[in-house]
Amino acid sequence: MTETKENRIKHSIMVMSGKGGVGKTTVAVNLGLGLALYGKEVGILDADITGPNVPKMLNIEDATLTGDEDQTIHPVELPVGSDSGIKVVSMAFVIGKDSPVVWRGPLKMQALKQFIETVTWGDLDYMLVDLPPGTSDEPLSIAQLLRPDGTIIVTTPQDLALLDARKAIDMSRALGIPVLGIVENMSGFTCPKCGGTIDLFKVGGGMKAAEELKVPFLGKIEIDPAICETGDSGMPFILNVQSKNAEAFDGIVRKIMAHYEGERGEPEPSRE
Ligand SMILES: Nc1ncnc2c1ncn2[C@@H]1O[C@H](COP(=O)(O)OP(=O)(O)O)[C@@H](O)[C@H]1O
Ligand SMILES: [Mg+2]
Repeated sequence: MTETKENRIKHSIMVMSGKGGVGKTTVAVNLGLGLALYGKEVGILDADITGPNVPKMLNIEDATLTGDEDQTIHPVELPVGSDSGIKVVSMAFVIGKDSPVVWRGPLKMQALKQFIETVTWGDLDYMLVDLPPGTSDEPLSIAQLLRPDGTIIVTTPQDLALLDARKAIDMSRALGIPVLGIVENMSGFTCPKCGGTIDLFKVGGGMKAAEELKVPFLGKIEIDPAICETGDSGMPFILNVQSKNAEAFDGIVRKIMAHYEGERGEPEPSRE
């Protein structure tokens, strides 16, 4: 629980990976929306300051943060279904989508500190933090600053990516943040024409790593052109597509809720 005068955040989870391009933002956004579909109050903090992609994936790139005289900042709110929504804060709202961010480390940390301390998140069940890629100083400092309750590690299935995933797990453990588990993304491909599966980057490595490193395996998401298309167009996958990969995201969402809320926290049947 993170509590300030303005905010009560029950569970904050950082989504991290050993390297970029493995689908961290995709996973953070779809899990956040998936939790909102169960009526949870969700915030997404885009802590990837140099490559803030969350607004693009949600088609809210042109939004700007508003504030009050008392220096509070309001998150951008995005409706999800008829009676819930998510709150988003990203550096992209501050700098505009086309300007490259060339800030030095201390300034970035200052901005993030404000995102936590002066943003009126309100009462949240879950905050998902999309971290910058890798295990270098920057994600490490951000993790130290935010002190989340749990980490989700995103990896692709092949061996090299798994080495990176191991580093991410080590970093989380070194910081004393429990690892909720591994998501294996880009795990095989089902041919839409013949229905056969092709293991483009091999498959099952995430599961193997989870066993070896004694962390839970949360689920696997295939390479799916619809995930890429919906990411590019800002029409989030989990809200717009019904398929086995959408079910796979839903399965991970349920595991997160079961972890934090126990069996009784299991989803109310509010999803269609
Ligand atoms: N399972 C998937 N199938 C197809 N494309 C994917 C999948 N996961 C991610 N992508 C695409 O791969 C690219 C990188 O994903 P992204 O989430 O931005 O990675 P990261 O945040 O780790 O850098 C994006 O264009 C995204 O739409
Ligand atoms: Mg990203």
